[in-house]
Amino acid sequence: MSDKINFAAAFNKTRGELLAMDEIEFRARFRERCHHTLEIQVYSCAYRGAALNPEQPKTAHLFLEVWKERGLPETLPEYVFAKKMLSFAEALIRGEAVDLSPYAPAPLSAEERQGFERVLYGRRSVREWTAERVPDETIRKVLDAGLWAAHACNLQSIRYLVIREESAPGLFRGSDIPGGPVHIVVLQDMRVYRANPVMPESNQLLDAGAAAQNLVLAAHANGLGGCWLTFTSEQMKQRIREFAGLPEHVRMTTYVDVGFPDQSPYPPQRLSTEEAVLLWK
Ligand SMILES: Cc1cc2nc3c(=O)[nH]c(=O)nc-3n(C[C@H](O)[C@H](O)[C@H](O)COP(=O)(O)O)c2cc1C
Repeated sequence: MSDKINFAAAFNKTRGELLAMDEIEFRARFRERCHHTLEIQVYSCAYRGAALNPEQPKTAHLFLEVWKERGLPETLPEYVFAKKMLSFAEALIRGEAVDLSPYAPAPLSAEERQGFERVLYGRRSVREWTAERVPDETIRKVLDAGLWAAHACNLQSIRYLVIREESAPGLFRGSDIPGGPVHIVVLQDMRVYRANPVMPESNQLLDAGAAAQNLVLAAHANGLGGCWLTFTSEQMKQRIREFAGLPEHVRMTTYVDVGFPDQSPYPPQRLSTEEAVLLWK
């Protein structure tokens, strides 16, 4: 983080600048601004029963106007989210209470908690798979779980390649386990990070890590075995990048192989919580 950053120039874009920038950056900026200039303030006021500053929704309104001018669909997630936040904001500005109780997640039953723990602790890195074809529908569920991981400033950088080994034999050679039936490469559209130049760069990698962890958990929950893997060389990355025709601004961050498991590893034992917690006051 730099002391010299000009916050106004970094975040307060003019209508002209918002119209001129590429769509990916514009949408990421919309998500970031909604998060930092509306969502947080709305929830804070709603929770405390306080009125919202009438100026607060100004930035989101500017983005909505540019959204319309750019002719973007109203079904896209940032638009839907902004409209909802603005409806809360308007109620708070009028001094009305905002009831967030419909969004409270129902507490898990004891049985559901057990199921969650089975997913969490039963997941193993699986490195052998059967020949059974993984249905597209199951892969889609796994990918969706990755997109619902936490993501810094809600910038949503995560993109994927889904490559079946049979459709590109040997493309992943060099991997520790090159034969994984379905390779899911976690990509990141780095243009979204222009929306927050003051965010610590380490968050970018953490975004991909959070997504990848959701992928392996969702794979396990859906009956698949998966292994989080490492690009072992630049040549390997380059080969996959060229195969997929990826542009410069898309980073290949990590990948996960999934398939129906043909192996049941003994769990690599973990440190105890006592050993891991260095301070608990
Ligand atoms: C960032 C990351 C990279 C990994 N890379 C590899 C790899 O290249 N090859 C491999 O066989 N396993 C790889 N793994 C899996 C770890 O070896 C595995 O998670 C660890 O041994 C614990 O086993 P478990 O996943 O069954 O609990 C990786 C895991 C992570 C989080």
